[in-house]
Amino acid sequence: MLNILVAIGTRPEAIKLAPTILEFQKYPKDVNVEVCVTAQHRALLDDVLINFEITPNYDLDLMSKNQTLDEIFSRSLAGISEILRQKPFDWILVQGDTSTALSAALSGFYNGVRVAHVEAGLRTYNKLEPYPEEINRQLISKITDLHFAPTLSAKSNLLSEGISNEDVIVTGNTVIDALRIASSADESDHVKNVLEVAHLNTKIIMVTAHRRENFGRPLESICEALKSLASKYTEDIHVIYPVHPNPNVQSKVYKDLQGIKNISLIDPLNYFDFIQVLKHCFLIITDSGGIQEEAPTLKTPVFILRNQTERTEGVAKGVGLMLGTDKTNIINQTSKVIEHQSEYQKYIKQSNPYGDGLASQRIVSKILHQPFNEFVEI
Ligand code: UD1
Ligand code: UDP
Repeated sequence: MLNILVAIGTRPEAIKLAPTILEFQKYPKDVNVEVCVTAQHRALLDDVLINFEITPNYDLDLMSKNQTLDEIFSRSLAGISEILRQKPFDWILVQGDTSTALSAALSGFYNGVRVAHVEAGLRTYNKLEPYPEEINRQLISKITDLHFAPTLSAKSNLLSEGISNEDVIVTGNTVIDALRIASSADESDHVKNVLEVAHLNTKIIMVTAHRRENFGRPLESICEALKSLASKYTEDIHVIYPVHPNPNVQSKVYKDLQGIKNISLIDPLNYFDFIQVLKHCFLIITDSGGIQEEAPTLKTPVFILRNQTERTEGVAKGVGLMLGTDKTNIINQTSKVIEHQSEYQKYIKQSNPYGDGLASQRIVSKILHQPFNEFVEI
């Protein structure tokens, strides 16, 4: 019997690890899977756990308002180490590039527990974008024993950094597994209300923005662009913007965009509701990592509010566009697809470079020494 601890801190980690936890739970004779939430996020995280009906075994309850990177990291490291010392875990499973993921990986290393990293090998090689995630994930790769790379290009990054071929498995991204589960959920009353306000006959644009490197002037420029677009296309578009609870985001977005008729500023949607709303969207404008991966499955074009992305496959396939945060560029590129169907259609492609919904099965098979085939891009 293997003992595995899964460490989760934030919304995207919960979304991307939930399908793997559920998959492990299918093998109760072979594996004891336990979940530790640091609760680097609270409400955002709890919403996901409720969606997937996952009850954590350990809850460090760390979140504080406007928490600093060093504070969350050090408290998470100490808390996870305490758990690892209580029981002989064989593996600690971490995901992505958050403060929780790095501290959990380091805790595994300090306590002699092997580290498996889900979504390994994403890189921009610019240590300031995304900040601090680029450095977090590079450090996690140094510590990790088994790397689950979502794509071939993520694997190539790891190999070029000297990681051994047999320690890297290409799985596809587990977010596609999660998306499939969420897609089959029923449309809740809350989703119906959100869509009703947005009037189904208009083009709905989903916006999310929360990245640290976009705080200040870039977020201001994003808000100015949204305001202009809303006024230019009053009858044609409706913006739905679930505002991240980070106070740096909340204060700016509500100050600049509240009270505009065709912009709905709403609380973050739980994951299942978010996916149900996304299904009705014409376009997504976002700085999120996970949403870039989900968009091709939903066949919705995604415009990326970043200067660099580690999810290069979507842009290369033409399902996404690097928009940056320049106001004029956001307005011009978005206007183009609103006004010209032919411009819009360019982004609708059949291919999905990020996964096939079987990533969690591959991860579990690898750890349980069962046969499987690696992910091949669709
Ligand atoms: C973190 C991750 C980032 C990920 C993002 C997902 C790191 C270094 N970064 O961003 O990769 O894209 O989460 O959203 O770990 N808050 C609440 N309620 C919540 C969640 C957050 O009030 O449920 C507020 C708190 O004031 C908190 C702040 O948001 O201090 C920011 O949360 P934090 O985990 O520090 O976010 P980021 O580091 O920006
Ligand atoms: N998401 C959600 N509700 C929302 C906005 C986003 O459930 O209101 C989901 C989204 O589908 C994606 C994930 O949250 O899977 C992305 O999280 P976030 O943008 O916070 O982090 P990132 O992906 O940038 O690390």
